[in-house]
Parts: sequence; structure tokens; C-alpha cells
Amino acid sequence: MPNSLAIAAHPVSNDPTVPGEIPVWAAAFSPYEHIVALTQKLTGSADSAHDESHLIRVWTNAKRIAMDEGGDLEILATATLLHDCVAVEKNSPLRSQASRMAAAAARDLLLEVGWSEERIQAVAHAIEAHSFSARIAPTTTEARILQDADRLDALGAIGIARLFMVSGRLDRPIYDLADPMAENRPLDETRFALDHFWTKLLGLPETFQTRLGRELAAVRAERISKFILDLKHEIGAEAL
Ligand SMILES: [Fe+2]
Ligand SMILES: [Fe+2]
Repeated sequence: MPNSLAIAAHPVSNDPTVPGEIPVWAAAFSPYEHIVALTQKLTGSADSAHDESHLIRVWTNAKRIAMDEGGDLEILATATLLHDCVAVEKNSPLRSQASRMAAAAARDLLLEVGWSEERIQAVAHAIEAHSFSARIAPTTTEARILQDADRLDALGAIGIARLFMVSGRLDRPIYDLADPMAENRPLDETRFALDHFWTKLLGLPETFQTRLGRELAAVRAERISKFILDLKHEIGAEAL
């Protein structure tokens, strides 16, 4: 993935009615392996913070929340698989459009394989509304669940790992040497990876839509707070 203004619309096969081979990881989406095969055309070249392992984690979260909230699991699985199918790098001015572009690509694919307009709309809305930067309120059960399931993957240990992976790709330092904890300067996540915890991630739990999502988010936010304290200690920030 290039470092700036990267937009990767994953390639679409010439004939979307012919599903690709079912990959090994599709078993995680059982009984929706056929949807993994169908959507593979759009999900094949995601970056390492949005790869198959992200899709599997989001689906695991989504299924768990859906046991509490209900919702249509086929729509949820399809929306999960396609929610990041158009990748726009964090520093691109088109970032807030990414989920709308992903929803449009999903709509085209599902139309071509004969899904009903009602079900396509349900998938497209969940995809559009999952994104933080799109600022679209989720209005359906599936959209609320997908948004929470995706945001959970930005929190906790996995959220920490993904933050530093993306920051490394953008060549951002871990923290500001002069003021790591931003005690006497404005936060700037475009310059320091650590600042992203305060500008975005630690505020995410307030945005959660479901009861279980909120509970899990609070636990994972605690893990981030603990990590920041450990880091502060290890880098000697108290003494700076
Ligand atoms: Fe996303
Ligand atoms: Fe995602």
C-alpha cells in the first residue's frame, strides 16, 4: 500500500455470477462460505490492518452481539465481508467517502448475482454506516451490530496492534519525544501514533450502539489505558 492518498478499489472479475474458489478461512463464516467466495472478488487485496483476519474478527464480534440483538445473519455476514472492500488510506481527503464507495461496489456485486433491492439496501446501509468518518447514523439492527463489531477491532490489544501497524505504514513516530503524553501541546494524530488513542480510540466506547458492544468496548478501552500507563512508565515520560 502506498503511503499517501492511496485508494485501492479491489479488482472485480469479469463475471460476478461465477463465484471464486472458497478459501480455507471461509470456514470462519460457516454457513456463509458461499458469500466469502462471492465477495472474494472485492476483498482480495486489502492491507494488513483490513485483511481476512480483520474480517474474521469483526464477524466473530458481530455474531456474538447478534445473539443478544437479533438481526439477519446473512445480511450481517455479507456486510461484514464487504464493509472495507474499498480501502482509502487514513491521510486521504477521500477517507470519509470510503464506506459509501464500498457500499456502491457491494450494491453492484449483489445486483449482478440477483439479490433483491431490499436485501441489497440492508447490506449497503450497514456498510455505509460502519465508518466513523462517514458520520452516517445506523438505522437497522444489522448496521448497529456491524458498526460496534468493527469498532471493537479498533480497541483493546488488537486495536493497539492495528494502530501501530497503520502508523508505521504512514511513517509516523510512536510518540512526541518532547511531550509524549501531550500534556503541553495540542494533540496531533497526523504526527504521532500515540495521539490517536486520545483523538479517537478512547472516545469510541461512547459511540457504541448495542448493550453488549458497549460492555466489551469499555473492557477494551481499559486495556488501552493500561497500555498507555505501561508505555509512559517504560519510556520514562514521568521524568521528562
Ligand atoms: Fe472500515
Ligand atoms: Fe473494518
